[in-house]
Amino acid sequence: MRHMLSLFDLTAAEIERVFAVTEDLKTKFTAGVREPILPGRVLALLFEKPSLRTRVSFEAGIGHLGGVSLFLGQDVGWGERESIRDFAQVLGQYVDAVVCRAKAHAKVEELAQFAECAVINGLTDYYHPCQALADLYTVREIVGDVGDSKVAYVGDANNVARSLAIGCAKLGATFAIASPANYSFEREFVEKLQSETGELIETTDPREAVAGADAVYTDVWASMGQESEQERRAADFADYQVNSVLMSAAPEACFLHCLPARRGEEVTDDVIDGPQSAVVQQAANRMHVQKGLLAWLLASQH
Ligand code: CP
Ligand code: NVA
Repeated sequence: MRHMLSLFDLTAAEIERVFAVTEDLKTKFTAGVREPILPGRVLALLFEKPSLRTRVSFEAGIGHLGGVSLFLGQDVGWGERESIRDFAQVLGQYVDAVVCRAKAHAKVEELAQFAECAVINGLTDYYHPCQALADLYTVREIVGDVGDSKVAYVGDANNVARSLAIGCAKLGATFAIASPANYSFEREFVEKLQSETGELIETTDPREAVAGADAVYTDVWASMGQESEQERRAADFADYQVNSVLMSAAPEACFLHCLPARRGEEVTDDVIDGPQSAVVQQAANRMHVQKGLLAWLLASQH
């Protein structure tokens, strides 16, 4: 059974395959064609945290493909009403795949260990692989060859940054991250990245990271679950705002953000609403790429 808990679970060739399926489906969708290539398939969404993009793009996407979705909120009680093992073994009998958004990454790993259906990570505290697939697909649409590109990330080395770094490393892109010293990648994570082909640049200087970049990316300074650290982080990240001055150091770059954004903190209105911004295209691609992912992942299952 194939799962996607992080982008380490896919090879570069498999990511390219997902992108090829995505391109085909997106072209058809844009022309008004919705091919029901996954008739009767059932996708469960198991969410412990709020969501707009991930939830709705998966629910709409499986609908376009002829399948159905079941949204399971916190009341379903996995790991509380019953063990994750019992929950996973039963859920896997009913559905073809489950998208799981969990507070702790270990919970999604345990779900995947016991579920006889595909488990897709819809965000944990550690990774957000669906986001990174859509991000890289967006770079591919704008720049062409991802492997030739430089993606700069300014801000917290969080779940979004880790996933983007893995995707860039797999596809041979340069990933440059500028974060305050105490908010950089863990050394174990950097060591894992070394086995991939792309170059990793780590710096504390946002201008160094964005120089020559094809994409400049940022995310919130305090992620879901870190609300109590908001004030301290706002002070620690004050020099890491993506504003028009920083973007002028990367005049050729598009601006990306996974959203939701805290406007006026990690990004200013003039950048997110400005001519370099591709955030709406990027958010739309969440749906297209996840349709490609579902088609690729479920095609191999009976
Ligand atoms: N970018 C993203 O995952 O958004 P949601 O939290 O709204 O799903
Ligand atoms: N880093 C953010 C991403 C939200 C899509 C969070 O985990 O809250």
